[in-house]
Amino acid sequence: MIKLKNENDIKNLRESGYILAETFQEIKKNIEPGITTLDIDKIAEDFVKKRKVKAAFKGYMGYPGSICISVNDEVIHGIPGSRVIKKGDILSLDFGIDLRGYITDSAITVPVGDISDADKKLMKVTEECLYLAIDQSKAGNRISHISKAVFTHAKKNQYGVVRDFCGHGVGFNLHEEPQIPNYISSGPNPRLKKGMVIAIEPMINLGVDDVVVMEDGWTVKTADNLNSAHFEHTIAIYDDHAEILTCL
Ligand code: MF3
Ligand code: CO
Repeated sequence: MIKLKNENDIKNLRESGYILAETFQEIKKNIEPGITTLDIDKIAEDFVKKRKVKAAFKGYMGYPGSICISVNDEVIHGIPGSRVIKKGDILSLDFGIDLRGYITDSAITVPVGDISDADKKLMKVTEECLYLAIDQSKAGNRISHISKAVFTHAKKNQYGVVRDFCGHGVGFNLHEEPQIPNYISSGPNPRLKKGMVIAIEPMINLGVDDVVVMEDGWTVKTADNLNSAHFEHTIAIYDDHAEILTCL
């Protein structure tokens, strides 16, 4: 069942998403070669404490971190730890905010200093995939309009599209119906409706579509060890447009 959100819910989710965007702003100010992924987790943790909200991923299905930090060929769900960030890395930061039970989810991929032209283009195209998908997000269209927008743009650029993980409904829980694949799927394909709140999250690879889960049980890497990018917004659906909730 898809749980619709009313105006008051969306007001709270807007506040939750704003704090999420502020957290990314704070992290970006502090990213430099030499810091560890655990240092970044601490920045996120301190920031949400100051804003009196919670990091929504912490403890979710046993996840140990506050934020997910996936470096280079890591796609998603990287656990913060002793890894030192280097110049030329690309970092995918995936974060969730729980504000009085109102949950938003967002991800960005950021460069550390100068990065390769190939990585720059991968990041640009992945973010374009997200915005092309948001352009399709309005009542009357279907989930497949979103999937097709992401898939077509990624494949036009000869990139891999991750199939094993999807976008999702969000708001009252981190993962709600419907699932939002980044490829054309034969699964459920409901129409979008006013009041739906969804997280769209293209995960795009320089090489193959395939990914593997590491021995820590969380970190997902590309099967060919080529780099990957991830952008995600939580959005609210209206009759003729969508509102991005995870922005300033
Ligand atoms: N942001 C992820 C998603 O979009 C969720 C992270 S899983 C967690 O679904 F366990 F780390 F929370
Ligand atoms: Co998500």
